[in-house]
Amino acid sequence: MSDLKEYSKKVSHVTDATLDKVLPAETTYPDSIHRLMRYSTFAGGKRIRPCLLMATYEACGGNFEDEHPRLASAALEMFHTFSLIHDDLPCMDDDDFRRGKPTAHRAFNEALAVLGGDALCIAAFEVLTRTGRVDIIAEIAGALGTRGMLGGQVVDLESEGKEVTREVVEYIHLNKTAALICSSIRIGAMLANASQEVLDKLTSFGKRVGLAFQVADDILDEESTTEQLGKDAGSDRENGKATFPAICGMEQSKKYAQQLIDQACSDIEFLGEKGQLLSDLARYIITRIS
Ligand code: IPE
Ligand code: IPE
Ligand code: MG
Ligand code: MG
Ligand code: MG
Repeated sequence: MSDLKEYSKKVSHVTDATLDKVLPAETTYPDSIHRLMRYSTFAGGKRIRPCLLMATYEACGGNFEDEHPRLASAALEMFHTFSLIHDDLPCMDDDDFRRGKPTAHRAFNEALAVLGGDALCIAAFEVLTRTGRVDIIAEIAGALGTRGMLGGQVVDLESEGKEVTREVVEYIHLNKTAALICSSIRIGAMLANASQEVLDKLTSFGKRVGLAFQVADDILDEESTTEQLGKDAGSDRENGKATFPAICGMEQSKKYAQQLIDQACSDIEFLGEKGQLLSDLARYIITRIS
């Protein structure tokens, strides 16, 4: 097994164990919402944000066994899962499959999916308070808000069916996706008490990796099947979404993703060998098949 595969397995294992501890039991009243929260969280995501967080924490001198990065990784997956549940709703992308299973609003109902998403977001903030780090809570609140993910989602929806410029697509992608990915990396560095100089370089790395991640997601939506992706392939075209392939074509999109990852890898050259896992993760992001 490659180092990356092994690492991702290890991170998924500890993140899932932490999630299991922090999420209310399915039998906790009212059980319907707790079943939904666990259904979506454990449906089988790649756990890329925890991998980026843990790899950054270790690259900055942190110890894999520490509790705070595990709590932060679990919280990030809860924020991310909340964003996916809402993204799939009929009033948003209206999708039926997620992580290889029916979407939350299909498996349960729409109102409960809205509330379950809200509940995951709120519970994730509570989990973060256990690190005692106000700077990390502020970091993630910024990344999720209207100057981050929510802003990106608004422009994504408002751009459906319209001709938009490359700048607008870049804004959408940087905010709806790159903001949370970049924060995962920044939180790893912040928990390891990295210097401002290191944090700045990792922020540049994070933005590029996050943007490339969404360009790759756009490409996969066009080129893969629903079975491969575990979510509705072709959904972007159906919804008239502003994507990179739609505005600059498939070939240019692939070139751009590659260029972003090359630049990202040069941002972290200063880490030397300690940055190997992070650059492997960055390369995986544009070569993945799901
Ligand atoms: C999907 O994210 C949503 C985007 C931001 C493109 P992932 O591809 O990381 O989804 P999971 O967590 O593996 O299901
Ligand atoms: C989703 O972008 C970004 C967020 C969930 C915030 P997409 O709408 O492209 O994600 P998928 O393809 O449904 O996973
Ligand atoms: Mg969407
Ligand atoms: Mg979507
Ligand atoms: Mg997509």
